[in-house]
Amino acid sequence: MTNAQKWLAAFLGLFIFLFLLGRVTNKKEEIPYKDNTYTEKTLQSNEEKDGLQLIRESGCTSCHGQNLEGSNIAPALVNLKEYWGRDNLINYLRNPSSFSNERMKEYRMKYKNIIMPSYNNLDVKDLGKIADYLLTR
Ligand code: HEC
Repeated sequence: MTNAQKWLAAFLGLFIFLFLLGRVTNKKEEIPYKDNTYTEKTLQSNEEKDGLQLIRESGCTSCHGQNLEGSNIAPALVNLKEYWGRDNLINYLRNPSSFSNERMKEYRMKYKNIIMPSYNNLDVKDLGKIADYLLTR
């Protein structure tokens, strides 16, 4: 072997060694990340959430009951499709006090000290999903 060949072999050996070392250390970093479904869950965007999830996260169940079956402070959210169109329902969620038909007046007598909050802070897309869910249950 000439000197040049020895140098070349040495460099090649070093190169392969660094390459393998890189792979080994890379794997060590990858594994905990890959197993980390927690990260994926916390980063889940509203885009992927369905109406029921959004309802639970928005606190609706604290008044309307765990399964929206109603409670002594708010009515059950059932058969809503008999009374609401999609757009009206979204508008109601954004500003409940602007609706004052007979049903609402009765509700306000029955649940005197409780005010249905306005959810105009929620994204309209999310309100749409909530409305869709409420209109199909
Ligand atoms: C602080 C308690 C409270 C919370 C929280 C609450 N509501 Fe209400 N909700 C009420 C009350 C009380 C009424 C009765 C009508 C009124 O006061 O306007 C009502 C009425 C409604 C109605 C009309 C029901 C019908 O029969 O037409 C819908 C729909 C509704 N709520 C959906 C929701 C949704 C969706 C959420 C969550 C994003 C929510 N509510 C959160 C108290 C609450």
